Amino acid sequence: MDDIKYSKPVNEQSRTSFDDQVDYGTPAQASNVLVTLTIDDREITVPEGTSIMRASILAGINVPKLCATDSLEPFGSCRLCLVEIEGRRGYPASCTTPVAPGLNVHTQTPKLADIRRGTMELYISDHPLDCLTCATNGDCELQDMAGAVGLREVRYGYEGENHLKAEKDESNPYFSFDPSKCIVCSRCVRACEETQGTFALTISGRGFESKVAAGITNFMDSECVSCGACVQACPTATLIEKTVIEAGTPEHSVTTTCAYCGVGCSFNAEMKGEEVVRMTPNKNGGANHGHSCVKGRFAWGYATHQDRITTPMIRKNINDPWQAVSWDDAINYAASELNRINAQYGKDAIGGITSSRCTNEEVYVTQKLLRAGFGVNNVDTCARVCHSPTGYGLKQTLGESAGTQTFDSVMASDVIFIIGANPTDGHPVFASQMKRRLREGAKLIIADPREIDMVANSPHLRADFHLKLRPGTNVALISAIAHVVVTEGLVDEAFVQERCEWDSFVAWRDFVAKADNSPEALATEIGVDAATLRAAARLYATGGNAAIYYGLGVTEHSQGSTMVMGIANLAMATANVGREGVGVNPLRGQNNVQGSCDMGSMPHEYPGYRHVSDEATRSLFEAAWGRPLSAEPGLRIPNMLDYAIEGSFKALYCVGEDIAQSDPDTQHVTHALESMECVIVQDLFLNETAMYAHIFFPGASFLEKSGTFTNAERRISPVRRVMTPKNGYEDWEITAMLSSAMGYEMKYNHASEIMDEIAALTPTFSGVSFKKLDELGSIQWPCNDENPNGTPTMHIDEFVRGKGKFFVTEYVPTTEKVSGKYPLILTTGRILSQYNVGAQTRRTKNVSWHHEDLVEIHPHDAAERGVKEGDWVGINSRAGETVLRVKITDRVQPGVIYTTFHHPESGANVITTDNSDWATNCPEFKVTAVQVTRVNQLSDWQQHYKSFSEAQLAFAGRDQDAARVE
Ligand code: SF4
Ligand code: SF4
Ligand code: SF4
Ligand code: FES
Repeated sequence: MDDIKYSKPVNEQSRTSFDDQVDYGTPAQASNVLVTLTIDDREITVPEGTSIMRASILAGINVPKLCATDSLEPFGSCRLCLVEIEGRRGYPASCTTPVAPGLNVHTQTPKLADIRRGTMELYISDHPLDCLTCATNGDCELQDMAGAVGLREVRYGYEGENHLKAEKDESNPYFSFDPSKCIVCSRCVRACEETQGTFALTISGRGFESKVAAGITNFMDSECVSCGACVQACPTATLIEKTVIEAGTPEHSVTTTCAYCGVGCSFNAEMKGEEVVRMTPNKNGGANHGHSCVKGRFAWGYATHQDRITTPMIRKNINDPWQAVSWDDAINYAASELNRINAQYGKDAIGGITSSRCTNEEVYVTQKLLRAGFGVNNVDTCARVCHSPTGYGLKQTLGESAGTQTFDSVMASDVIFIIGANPTDGHPVFASQMKRRLREGAKLIIADPREIDMVANSPHLRADFHLKLRPGTNVALISAIAHVVVTEGLVDEAFVQERCEWDSFVAWRDFVAKADNSPEALATEIGVDAATLRAAARLYATGGNAAIYYGLGVTEHSQGSTMVMGIANLAMATANVGREGVGVNPLRGQNNVQGSCDMGSMPHEYPGYRHVSDEATRSLFEAAWGRPLSAEPGLRIPNMLDYAIEGSFKALYCVGEDIAQSDPDTQHVTHALESMECVIVQDLFLNETAMYAHIFFPGASFLEKSGTFTNAERRISPVRRVMTPKNGYEDWEITAMLSSAMGYEMKYNHASEIMDEIAALTPTFSGVSFKKLDELGSIQWPCNDENPNGTPTMHIDEFVRGKGKFFVTEYVPTTEKVSGKYPLILTTGRILSQYNVGAQTRRTKNVSWHHEDLVEIHPHDAAERGVKEGDWVGINSRAGETVLRVKITDRVQPGVIYTTFHHPESGANVITTDNSDWATNCPEFKVTAVQVTRVNQLSDWQQHYKSFSEAQLAFAGRDQDAARVE
């Protein structure tokens, strides 16, 4: 398959030309009632409520417009879209006038042409006439409209009052605001409100004095979160990406998928040759509908950052300098080392780890290499440390290890219940959609120990209930809520009778009905009063369509899997599964957490969540792969690390994952890595794990490869190669080369052939192909003969496992308890501008917002310790110590502290313990008992880290600063 076919020719009109579609001026209407009218002698039928503008454009009639765009509600300010309607007086704006049956509309008359020219003349008379040198020359709606209305000359000079000397605001690192070019159409203000939900912009002043204002001073000091919606909406060069100013207008565009979070936004990579000029959100994107966040929209510069390593490197010992070698030499050396270890210690000494940043195809070939090439199931993925309890819990209860809904489903929700998730920071584009639904009136329940931005920093929103539970008491909380549902007669028994295993329901019902599980009995443990728990439970059960969205605050606990099952129990009992607006929705953190799990990246499962011990499945894969396969589940990441220290696990192939930063108990991880004889790291950068590696395979960025990502709503989206890999190969090619060198030939010509193999072997993917993805844009699995175009909502008529199954979810308090020595609980999370271990975002201008991890502490706890804002504090746990700077805030409750983990030198995981979920070994990142004291120097670990990483960077011939934060 040739990627070049995705390229589109340049359209010389407006920037929306790259969106594969026309801008219809106003949003589509969902009405089933159709209205027929005549526009310029053409009869057209459209849904009731459609604007005359949209109807016209649908009929191929271009009505001039400036303040209207189809992502925003009509505003009617520019007066360019006026039309004449027979039998009506005046010249109504077509963007704000809805269609009506039998109307006869004229959009092009001499009078209208006259009015439009006059209007445009006024706009242009207060606009710099620098089109030929303007960065958006040829890509500006104002310029287009001047041409469209036939404006040839402007009668008014600049002598009168004008805005031409207005000062530019260059404070945002990614876009520029030049008020001299502003036509005050208010599209930016409305985009910030309607699309993003941040309300950072206003129109200040009146009449001629009206102007767009961001906060009191500038964009950077305002509430702006740099989502880019205003830039996208601006019809002029007033708000424009700095990369466009620097590189000029793009020449062609390729649609691909964001490589950051689990929302999976679709973007158009707008290119000049092999250079990305900008990434613009795709209006056709099934997950984002043309919206974006600061990461996907702007933070793609890491892909070409100077820190990237593009030549393979090898060394015998981690205390040796790296030696740059050819690909052949690197692959052959890796194969010889793995063969040596296989011969010397046996195949069980070898394992692999994939990452949720990898494409589906990369994960698939890596697990195939381990299972078929080596004959072991020692393959695991980073979902081990995030959403493995989701996979387990949802499979047990509902029958499928995935979320039940589309993101769009939230628009039909009446009650939104967010548990242990921070959508505005972790899943920002979906958070904007959620906020829109909340502004429309949906109720909100939040269960989180900390005040999240969804309420703390979102104008016009408040939580109906914020259950500020104590970290570690999730299962008690879900039991208390279930108790109310069961004992107050709020169960939908008809649904349960028809759809669920009745015996399992009875066992669960009797369990949660016990007095021990009442809000009154558990209130102290949970830290939320009983009346509030009861009221929240009643709202969830009786408030209409109720949807649960949860994140790592649910899974990363010793009872993570129990809590996931508890959530599913509650949804089934209240019939909140199997239709729009409801459901159980894990918010997957990284871009391809869902996909990497689907692809068989866990040691006990083949692609499609089929157990390795299942003979029929194993035979299927043995026949396809031509090798005998092991029926024994392989090692999980924690087992690999333990056995490495113990001495029986010797070689690791780590693709795109950075366990030395992202896994708990850092010192344990690095000790394990030091104990291995062959660590192969495949990545863009010399990450923390690579500092302990013997072989480094340089990886390709998402812009340099083809494949697919699967987002949190099971949406498989295409990743398309827009430039030549700087390292020479796509990542799946590297794995295939290694496999072939080991003696297990992998022959694929393109990532699409890997997907064809996945589809042939995986029933839920049987209808998926790159060709179909080209046709449909994206596909939500299951996609097969029954659902040829995919499955937006799951479990509609029956659960995937047949009958839904309830599980008794007994609350077992974590063994990680506060004590006199460790009196505070540390919990962790992430921040909007940074992504996970920060390897990508730290190499972008996103560091302008977050250049270090801080520890948040309640004013009471700070005062007790004599700690002031900005002080350095030592955080000690049973596992270790680190030092961070303090931020004092009442967003955390007394007794709880909070930090992010985006910078390796913060050592957040030096203090997290090796406690883990009973079913999946997912680490208990969210609960660590700690003490906080004022200090004036880095911890021992941090001092060691600093000298070790400096030495390692020198071994790779790198300057420390360049390789770290920009
Ligand atoms: S900045 Fe752009 S979108 Fe905003 S009012 Fe001015 S011209 Fe319109
Ligand atoms: S970038 Fe986003 S948040 Fe900032 S002002 Fe524009 S629309 Fe609002
Ligand atoms: S919301 Fe997630 S997928 Fe979308 S642009 Fe932001 S980081 Fe990328
Ligand atoms: S586009 Fe209708 S008034 Fe501006």
